[in-house]
Amino acid sequence: MNKEELYHKLKTLLTGKLILLSDKPEETIDSTLMALWHAASDSPKSVEEAVKLSLPELTQDEIDNLEELIKQRLNDIPLAHITGRQSFMGIELLTDRRALIPRKETEILGRKALELSMNIAREKNKVKVIDVCCGAGNLGLAIAHFNINAIVAASDLSQEAVDLTHDNISFLKLGERIKATQGDLFSAFETDDYFGKTDLIICNPPYISSAKVPKMISEISENEPVLAFDGGMLGTKIILRLIGEAPKFLTSGGWVVFEIGLGQGPFIKQLCERSEFYDMVETVLDDSGNVRVIQARKL
Ligand SMILES: C[S@@+](CC[C@H](N)C(=O)[O-])C[C@H]1O[C@@H](n2cnc3c(N)ncnc32)[C@H](O)[C@@H]1O
Repeated sequence: MNKEELYHKLKTLLTGKLILLSDKPEETIDSTLMALWHAASDSPKSVEEAVKLSLPELTQDEIDNLEELIKQRLNDIPLAHITGRQSFMGIELLTDRRALIPRKETEILGRKALELSMNIAREKNKVKVIDVCCGAGNLGLAIAHFNINAIVAASDLSQEAVDLTHDNISFLKLGERIKATQGDLFSAFETDDYFGKTDLIICNPPYISSAKVPKMISEISENEPVLAFDGGMLGTKIILRLIGEAPKFLTSGGWVVFEIGLGQGPFIKQLCERSEFYDMVETVLDDSGNVRVIQARKL
């Protein structure tokens, strides 16, 4: 069987069986097959990277391997766990069960945070950034990668997530400008190095209500950490702490910028506007007009 015939046969196998999730819009039947194909040939790529490359010829062992990987995917193992790769803002990252798979929608936050970091660096030459709830480290790493004037400190309550962030820091060779520490929200930063000296705080917090977490689709609930989703009874537990605690660490004119869940926009925006600590509050919408990011400036 030649390459085209094999591709057609395996695509038919996936069609109608593969469940595609709306929060991973980059995954289609074709892109999934291409990513699995590269993984089977021992050249793992994120799905977004895989679609840009031509498919290598496979040996019989690699074809057997590919058929096994397809089985795993049809058994709801996330594609990014099979390939061990996920693209975030165009950067290839390592990914596994230790942390949330970075989502496309979080690039809205990533792009806004990068823009703010660039503006600050233009004024001050350097920009000091904290990424709390860092997970795989995607947000802090993207800032460190694209803004050479950024110094980033990342933190997560989960030691496993911090370990994955460390792996990603080494993978991207960014160890000179980003470090990661385990801790509850800001607890790793309770020192004079950070009090009133942080230019930008980034956070993609857990924001799903506790009652909704067990009802999430099994591909997610069985493979990604609950801690990454559970935002307490109303989903806003960590967001409220973030809004309350961030000012202690920010410079005057510094920003806290964070992702929120669908429908949380009006309440959270109002909360920031009523806070005595912020003098400017702005929102960023997704393509459907939903508020997905809030940024608030310290007075
Ligand atoms: C939605 S995930 C975001 C991960 C990553 N920043 C991203 O954008 O993909 C939320 C993260 O918050 C972490 N987390 C939950 N509660 C926390 C807390 N109290 N303090 C610090 N991190 C926490 C979880 O372990 C998880 O890694």
